[in-house]
Amino acid sequence: MENSDYINLKNLTKSTILGRVLFPSSEINNKVSQLGKAITEDYGGRDLLLISVLRGGVFFFTDLVRSIDLEISIDFMGISTYLGINSTPTGIVKITKDLEESIEGKDIIIVEDIIDTGLTVSYLYRNLKSRYPNSIEICTLLDRNVRRIANIKIKYIGFAIGEEYVVGYGLDYKQKYRNLESIYELKLDMVKKDIETIQWKHPQFRD
Ligand code: PRP
Repeated sequence: MENSDYINLKNLTKSTILGRVLFPSSEINNKVSQLGKAITEDYGGRDLLLISVLRGGVFFFTDLVRSIDLEISIDFMGISTYLGINSTPTGIVKITKDLEESIEGKDIIIVEDIIDTGLTVSYLYRNLKSRYPNSIEICTLLDRNVRRIANIKIKYIGFAIGEEYVVGYGLDYKQKYRNLESIYELKLDMVKKDIETIQWKHPQFRD
């Protein structure tokens, strides 16, 4: 266990929020290395640009790109999602920060920390496709496909998860706990009220 987790856990074990460790930092690190190796093997000799979706995704992203042994480029997109009646996801996404450079002719990988309904990445995929890249693939650390709405093809997946609500390694609960090095399950009983209120909002409890 990493020092930073230990320090946090001293308080957090008493906390009413965090449950068990779902993926310890060591397991995450191994998985990120495997994904980086796979991307390295697949993209040799190509003009690869990896795109991170702010905010939580940057933790996974910065580890992933450092495990890729190629001359790559990186860029960032900021987005916000509109929710519909009863906070149901609409799939309508507003770009709050666009890419800095053209992606024409480049090989793109969209990197996400988690894909749930798939609506966000589906929107991004279509948006980026219209900018004439050579190719686009999707990479996610966590794939929670039980609530998938959009029909998407994910080429690189770290871990498949079920209904669990998770925090840590970039994933937040009300904007907190992103800086934990491991990924934890939230204690559902303690956050049940929130979940009932927002379960069709974003899985990471988008504010
Ligand atoms: C998360 C994640 C994806 C999106 C996936 O971001 O990084 O962008 O949700 O959900 P979907 O598949 O249902 O569209 P979030 O909105 O939590 O923002 P954050 O990264 O700032 O926490």
